[in-house]
Amino acid sequence: MVKTIVLANQKGGVGKTAIAVQLAYFFSQIMNKRVLVIDLDHQHNTSRAIIMGKGAETSTIPSSQLLSSSVTKVEKKPFVLIAADNKELLRMEKQPDKHNTFVNNLNGFIKAVTKQFDICIIDTNPNPDIRQLSALIVSDFVLCPLQLNQEAIDGIGMLLNHENIGIKKIQATLNPKLHFIGVLPNMVEPTPFQRENFKDLTTHFSKLLIPLSTGFAAIKKTTAIAEAQAVGLPVWKMGKTSARDAWTHMKPVFEKIASVMEIK
Ligand SMILES: Nc1ncnc2c1ncn2[C@@H]1O[C@H](COP(=O)(O)OP(=O)(O)OP(=O)(O)O)[C@@H](O)[C@H]1O
Ligand SMILES: [Mg+2]
Repeated sequence: MVKTIVLANQKGGVGKTAIAVQLAYFFSQIMNKRVLVIDLDHQHNTSRAIIMGKGAETSTIPSSQLLSSSVTKVEKKPFVLIAADNKELLRMEKQPDKHNTFVNNLNGFIKAVTKQFDICIIDTNPNPDIRQLSALIVSDFVLCPLQLNQEAIDGIGMLLNHENIGIKKIQATLNPKLHFIGVLPNMVEPTPFQRENFKDLTTHFSKLLIPLSTGFAAIKKTTAIAEAQAVGLPVWKMGKTSARDAWTHMKPVFEKIASVMEIK
């Protein structure tokens, strides 16, 4: 049975895509799992990185079709990318009469390929629209990268309680099986300002953070991650000391995510 995880946060530029891509590589190359990646973001960043990395088979099916039609088959490869298409994805929000069908189609697709993959990773766009909603409705797990600024911390309430796509709302109504893995501070810098914000976060929202034996899970800001994303490679294959250091601190976070998802 495939386990589906969605990266979600209405805030842009928090690292949803970077974490989605690196997690896909981690599950595929380190944990040797069968991985399906669905890019629902018309910005196409996940697709671009994974296509550049050359490790996955890019499906002939564009991601909008998973919502707009009843797709029941996908390429039989151990690592498959369903890439984002621009225009069709952008049109979806403007067809409210079809929104129910979109959710049902995506759900049907994941059910149809459930035996073919171990993990499905969905990257979403930073808009509270039908694509993000569909992804949250069909997923088993949600992970929310977050930047440590006051605005983002203030936005946590919205992340949970937004009237359309708030995680608590969705758990209570449309998808009771949705497991909230937690918020994952990303691009963390050792500045007094960020330290203060992290303290604030641990004081007020500790239940939303992901506990590790060494403290709460967080990913540091490092050029190694941005560089790995720019060339579409796993961080641990970048062959620089800075990349090795980056991977050393990312690995326990990814292992924890795998463990919460009960992926062995
Ligand atoms: N820990 C990190 N250290 C340094 N750079 C990072 C880190 N995480 C992400 N980045 C870089 O920050 C930029 C924004 O990240 P990313 O595209 O993953 O955010 P996003 O949440 O997917 O944005 P959007 O909401 O627009 O889809 C990218 O250039 C990415 O490579
Ligand atoms: Mg993104």
